[in-house]
Amino acid sequence: MCREQRISAVFCEQVIHCIFYRRIHLGCDSSGGRRLAKVLAFANQKGGVAKTTTTINLGVAFQELGLRVLVVDMDPQGNLTMSLGLNPDKIRPSMFEVLVNGVRIQQALYHQELDVACSSIDLAAAEIALSSLIGRERALSKALLEVRDLYDYILIDTPPSLGLLTVNALTAADAVIVPVQCEYLSLRGLAQLERTLELVRENLNPEVHIAGILPTMYDSRTVHGREAVEVLRTSFGDLVFQSTIRKTIRFAEAPVKGESVLKYAPDSAAAKAYRDLAREVLNGKKI
Ligand SMILES: Nc1ncnc2c1ncn2[C@@H]1O[C@H](COP(=O)(O)OP(=O)(O)O)[C@@H](O)[C@H]1O
Ligand SMILES: [Mg+2]
Repeated sequence: MCREQRISAVFCEQVIHCIFYRRIHLGCDSSGGRRLAKVLAFANQKGGVAKTTTTINLGVAFQELGLRVLVVDMDPQGNLTMSLGLNPDKIRPSMFEVLVNGVRIQQALYHQELDVACSSIDLAAAEIALSSLIGRERALSKALLEVRDLYDYILIDTPPSLGLLTVNALTAADAVIVPVQCEYLSLRGLAQLERTLELVRENLNPEVHIAGILPTMYDSRTVHGREAVEVLRTSFGDLVFQSTIRKTIRFAEAPVKGESVLKYAPDSAAAKAYRDLAREVLNGKKI
């Protein structure tokens, strides 16, 4: 096959993917009617397990498939906001104003590699400010209503806690993806997350469920890494994604450039891992 034929074959494959995913997974009917965005939260109360990294890179992988994606930064540390090249110390309005002051979410949207609703440092005060408000757990869900028909997927990054900001994300979400670092100690927090989800299901959002557990920072060279994945699969069976994200320095390098790994190193194994995950999520029946 000559170079032009190869390029044209790759182009055709991309177009077929886009049509396939829009038709089958988003339920677009033949008259072009559209469903509301699916909302996925990325949660694990442990920090440093790749919640933010997964939110961005899965978002970009969805976007490559022709899907319209919004990412929402609900972590006061603002790592997602920063990783997309914005400064959470300066940005206003942010999700704080949206959640607490009722500012419309469109005003906190910025168009970077992905559309992003930004965090700012004062989001840390949102938990206290929200705590006295009626409907405090539903503030995010309510805010997202305005944009749910503009996107196919809304991905919410959460802070490393099970406080009110995370509860807001779980209340707004159709499903939750739980990134878990492939280390024994990282596996222990999952029961606590399941209990919080149970409470959210009973009181706020009966539909929310775990779409999948994602093993991250996997190092196949160590016995410990291999054992941790084995323990995960034995304990949670089918709930664990087949896709596994390996440990590589690419993930630390990309945010420095304000880019996803898919843009920073498009041909890397790291980028491929998130593209594989995107297909697995879209082909799965749990969302
Ligand atoms: N697969 C990976 N391999 C190596 N480093 C990773 C990987 N995924 C994420 N990281 C790095 O680990 C750190 C924590 O990841 P992050 O996504 O911020 O976690 P969280 O949002 O759960 O706190 C970041 O510096 C990130 O670049
Ligand atoms: Mg984070």
